[in-house]
Parts: sequence; C-alpha cells; structure tokens
Amino acid sequence: MKVNGKHYRSLWWNAENDVLEIIDQRWLPHDFRTQTVGTMEEFADAIVEMRVRGAPLIGATAAYAMALAMKIDPSNDHLEKSWQYFNATRPTAVNLRWALDRCKNVLLPLSEDQRADAALELAHEIADEDVEINAQIGKHGLAIIQEIAKSKKPGETINILTHCNAGWLATVDWGTATSPMYQAHDAGIPIHVWVDETRPRNQGALTSWELGSHGVPHTYIVDNAGGHLMQHGMVDLVIVGTDRTTSRGDVCNKIGTYLKALAAKANNVPFYVALPSPTIDWTIADGVADIPIEERNAQETTHIQGLMPDGCIQTVQVTPEGTPGGNPAFDVTPNNLVTGLITERGVTPATTEGLQSMFPEFAQPAATAMKAGG
Ligand code: MRU
Repeated sequence: MKVNGKHYRSLWWNAENDVLEIIDQRWLPHDFRTQTVGTMEEFADAIVEMRVRGAPLIGATAAYAMALAMKIDPSNDHLEKSWQYFNATRPTAVNLRWALDRCKNVLLPLSEDQRADAALELAHEIADEDVEINAQIGKHGLAIIQEIAKSKKPGETINILTHCNAGWLATVDWGTATSPMYQAHDAGIPIHVWVDETRPRNQGALTSWELGSHGVPHTYIVDNAGGHLMQHGMVDLVIVGTDRTTSRGDVCNKIGTYLKALAAKANNVPFYVALPSPTIDWTIADGVADIPIEERNAQETTHIQGLMPDGCIQTVQVTPEGTPGGNPAFDVTPNNLVTGLITERGVTPATTEGLQSMFPEFAQPAATAMKAGG
C-alpha cells in the first residue's frame, strides 16, 4: 500500500546489501522509520520488540530469518537451533511456527550447499504468497460488504468495526481484515470504519494511519465504545484478524476481540474473521484450552507512548508509582460467536466441517494430529 504516494510492502529484500528492510512499527503513526535487519539477533529482536508485528508478517520475517541462518551455517544442527531460537520469539501467532516448519521441511532434504539460496527463494515465495492470499481475502470480504450494501439505501454508508491492526502493516501487503475495506472503498462503496484503539499498544493508531493514507473514512474510538455503537445500530459488521484459528474455528486475536464478539452476538451484528490459511492451527480444536496466550511486559499497561507538543515521541506513566499491571496480549473467541471466516478460498462457517471442506488437503482430526515443529 502507499505511504506518501510511494508503494511499500511492510518488508522488502535489499539484494545489494543482502539484508532485509523493515518498517520499525514502534514509531508509527508518528514517525515512518525503516531499518535493516542483518543478524540473527536483529531478526529475533525485531519480532520480540514488535518492530514487526501481526501474525502473517511475523511468519514472513521468520522465513527471512531462516534464510540468514542458512547463509551463516547450513548444517542440520544450525537449522534445528535456528528453528528453536526464532520459534521462541513470540508464542501466540501460529504463522511463526508455520513459516519455520515450512522452511525446515523444504531445506532438510537439500544438501548443505543448496540451502542458503533455497531458503532465500522460499522466503520471497512466502512473502509473495501472503500478498496474494490477502488480495483474495479482500475479494471474498468485498462480496460480504456488497451484500450488506444491497440492504441499504443507495449511497448510504456501511459502518465496519475493527480491532487491533490486521492491516497491511501486519501482513506483507493489503492486510487481512482491512483488505475487504480497501477493496470496497476502491470499488466506490461508501464505507466508514470504527477503529478500536486497542490498548495497551494502540495498534488502532496504526490502522487509522493506514486507512487515512488510503483515504478510507474512519473514526478512532476507545476500546469500550463498540458495544454502545452496536446497540444504537451504528455498526453493520465487524471484521477482525486472527493470530491462530483452531481446527474447529475458535479464533485467537488481540486482547478485547472476545468482548467485541459477545457484543456483536447480543446485537445481531455479523462478526467476521479474516483468516489466511497459514493462521490455521490444525493440531488443536479448543482454543481456550490450548492456545498459549502471550503475557507481555506490564509496563505496556502502566505507561503509554505518544507524540509530545515539541514533536518528540515519549512514554509517560499513567498509573500511580508501583501499580502492578497485567498484560495478556490475546484472547480467544469461541467459534459460536463467529459469523464466518473469510479465507483466501472463500467464506466458510467457523466449524470443523467448514474449515475441512475449504482446505481438504490440510485437514486432519485435531486429536490425532501430530504437534508440528521440533
Ligand atoms: O501483538 P500484535 O500487534 O502482533 O497483534 C496483532 C493482531 O492481533 C492482529 O489482529 C493479528 O495478528 C492478525 S494480523 C493480519
């Protein structure tokens, strides 16, 4: 998508210097900074510190990390150690393990001297695939928005609520939840997006920045506003992203998503989840029981970062000195609260049958599935 008229992906390969370039998202929306990533530690740090973030982007970054690992030392031992090292960076988004597994499966059968080139090729492939997947999600999500538009008066605005940033910054391009929004806007359908701020890290500000850059009308709201807006008929549908979706369609996404799903159910507002297939964890069914929820540093809740009047970005303390903070970063929305999963192949019910019929080649019963990786 475009930043000041120039097309960017959220990461890109700098072939001249053999390094990955990323957007350091910690400074957005106030400062657009890019950074090169060229060591194992820099790759791990980029994911841990959330310079790159969002499930699909974490996966793509991990693939480039494995390419570097193979350039340094293509042995089986280093392949395994690198898998372990990068897999430990963030626990919830399954795209990380998916990408690392895919690299391992492709690279292991190759001879050592083939691995560095093959790993880099694969990383490019994973990045390009992500862009195509998200474009397809946009197409299928657009059909949902077009259907809702039919029930409106001509020219009447469709209000969409989203949580966190499942935009192009969270993927390689397009975004997942935002892709239908961009495509609807580009098709001339009048949409307006309610953007949840998404405390504690305010990824809603990233979504606002993205939507604003593309000219999509939107309003930034506090996390607690969604239920009220739904009660008053001011939300036509919700579209969110996901960090891990189980084989039966339970959805794990940024903390607070579950509350939005409950409010949507109570108010008969359709609640859709944009789901690229690498975000499906076929090895588990019960998301509440089996998805590891990342607990982040409590300082993210007791402090907040923002732009000062002098133009500096600073962090200030919100709570009294010494207040203990708790910071679970994700929650699970059970499948019965999900209206549909918007995948790259089409929209499916959030059920075992729905997912299996959409992706028959991946489907295997969760109970007997091998835990991938390792
Ligand atoms: O902690 P983050 O910012 O990495 O969390 C991101 C989200 O929760 C997104 O909604 C999810 O990864 C889907 S991104 C297409």
